[in-house]
Parts: sequence; structure tokens; C-alpha cells
Amino acid sequence: MRRHLYDQPIEVKESIPEHPRALRLDLPEPPNGDASDQAFVYRFDDEVVGFFNRCGHVRLPMDLDDGKFFDREGMIICRVHGARFDERSGACIMGPAYTGLYRLLIQSGNRPAHDENSKDSSPTTPSEQSFYKSNTMAESSAVSTGELGSSGERAGEQAPNYRILGWEGPVASK
Ligand code: FES
Repeated sequence: MRRHLYDQPIEVKESIPEHPRALRLDLPEPPNGDASDQAFVYRFDDEVVGFFNRCGHVRLPMDLDDGKFFDREGMIICRVHGARFDERSGACIMGPAYTGLYRLLIQSGNRPAHDENSKDSSPTTPSEQSFYKSNTMAESSAVSTGELGSSGERAGEQAPNYRILGWEGPVASK
């Protein structure tokens, strides 16, 4: 699985809707090598998750450009040929896709997002070291995807800001 971290995390300034709605946004340095590509993010079970809008089949935009990413059961659907992806992990569940999606690494508050269960959570790349150094004072919750661990917002706490740290993928199929 490829993993890419931005030199500077990208703050999401727009309101992020609850699943099954999603916010579309353009992000730089996407997996396909273009200057930028479209992604989508949404709230799901007290987490914020997001993926690049490229199918694991033909790498086409999955929403036919109308912002509708989910089927009646709430799974991510590619409306080009009907592939389905898990709405939390981005793994391919059914359909002609060969791989899962590229998921976004998303952080809330200021605490570095990392795998808290990992024996070695130290930053290893220059990008990670740079980012982690600039975020050593924080204590608030981190919301991220998949292997980075997660925690939710508590009642009464200030709503966190969300930052996109980078991306990883493609997610393995189920
Ligand atoms: S392009 Fe998505 S299923 Fe074919």
C-alpha cells in the first residue's frame, strides 16, 4: 500500500456533512500523479473519513459528478459499473473493481495522528517529522481513518478542526 504525506496538512474549512452525504474537495498530489484530484469526505460514526473519487476499476470518478456517493444501504457505490466499497474503510466489497479506494489520512484537533497501538509511532519521514514537530502541544482528540486509530468528539468539547495529512492506498479488498 502506498502512503503519501503532505508537507503541510490541508485544513478542511467547509462543514463536513454526515453520511450519506459528502463534501467534495480538490486535493493536491493525488495518487494518479496529476496536480490535483477530487476527493470526498463525510462524518461516519463519530469519525471523519474520506477517499479520492477514483474507482478501483477504471479510476473514473464514481459519482457521475453529482456528489452522490452512496447506495441505499449506505455503501460507497461507483455508478459507472456498480462496484461497492465499504463506507468506513474504502475496501472493495463487490463489483468489477480490482482494488479498494485511496483513503485520506484525516486528523482533528492538534494531536499528531498515529497508530496508538503501534510499538513504534515515531515519525519516520521528513514530512512526518516536520508535521509532528509542529504539533507537540496538543491534547485534543484525533480522528483519522483505518490504521491510524480514532476517537470521537465528546459533548461540550469544542468542535475540532479537520486536517488532511495525506493519503494511503489502495485499500485491500475484502
Ligand atoms: S469504473 Fe467503477 S465500477 Fe467500473
